[in-house]
Amino acid sequence: MIDHIYRDGQHYDRLFPDAVQDLAFWISQAIKYGDPVLELACGTGRVSIPLAKEGFAVTGIDNSEAMLAEARKKSDAEGLTVEWVAADIRDFDLQRTFPLIILPANALCHLLSLNDFEACLACVRNHLVRDGRFVIDVFVPKMELLINRPGERSPFSEYDDPDGRGRIAVTESYVYEPDTQIKRIKTFHAFPGRDQDVEGELNMRMYFPQELDALLKYNGFAIDGKFGDYDETPFDSQSEKQIIVCSVMEVVDAPETH
Ligand SMILES: C[S@@+](CC[C@H](N)C(=O)[O-])C[C@H]1O[C@@H](n2cnc3c(N)ncnc32)[C@H](O)[C@@H]1O
Repeated sequence: MIDHIYRDGQHYDRLFPDAVQDLAFWISQAIKYGDPVLELACGTGRVSIPLAKEGFAVTGIDNSEAMLAEARKKSDAEGLTVEWVAADIRDFDLQRTFPLIILPANALCHLLSLNDFEACLACVRNHLVRDGRFVIDVFVPKMELLINRPGERSPFSEYDDPDGRGRIAVTESYVYEPDTQIKRIKTFHAFPGRDQDVEGELNMRMYFPQELDALLKYNGFAIDGKFGDYDETPFDSQSEKQIIVCSVMEVVDAPETH
């Protein structure tokens, strides 16, 4: 199921209008690891389009047609060629490989189970060149983000309706499930002049630092670097982000025995 905020690309872009702080990092990764770049869960092209502007060949995959439609509109308007692919990041086959595959902006949290993450890693492995890099950016699920406040609404965003209906206020409430590690968020869009808010769901699985490292390791990925911020500060107990650069582990053949 497509989460509510990903059902309209124009509204999505207005929810997070100032999200540019990671772009220099992604460009630096593309410079370091190469061209072409595959972005998983590319949304409306917030990262893919600036990469294309820098001259990289970019493919972006997303399972929301609405998000891709907005991405396509924006890249066309800039005269940029980006390959937009409607597919699930747990099950795709592009029939070619990339030196760099990226998963920015907490999109990892949309892989709601271990099976989902492992299916995605299998696809990544099939699409990486030898010595290619897979780079993930996901927040650290600190305890304060997981304390249940059922029924309590906090501000999420506020923006001008692209259809001219006025200012839309968005609030959220959530319940965290410790067994599945899923934070089940409800979003409420309050449109001016409407009595009832439009309710939506957004589900995000939390990936704890040691768990994420272990999942990568036991799925055959070596962690080449783990950062706590886009300036490549080493990851530590104060870090709010987990930015992981990893690659497929070399399998060393066992010596033959006679
Ligand atoms: C937080 S947005 C990130 C968009 C973009 N990467 C950015 O940085 O702005 C997450 C995106 O993941 C997409 N998504 C969620 N689950 C997916 C799946 N299983 N396969 C492909 N895309 C998925 C959503 O449609 C949404 O566009």
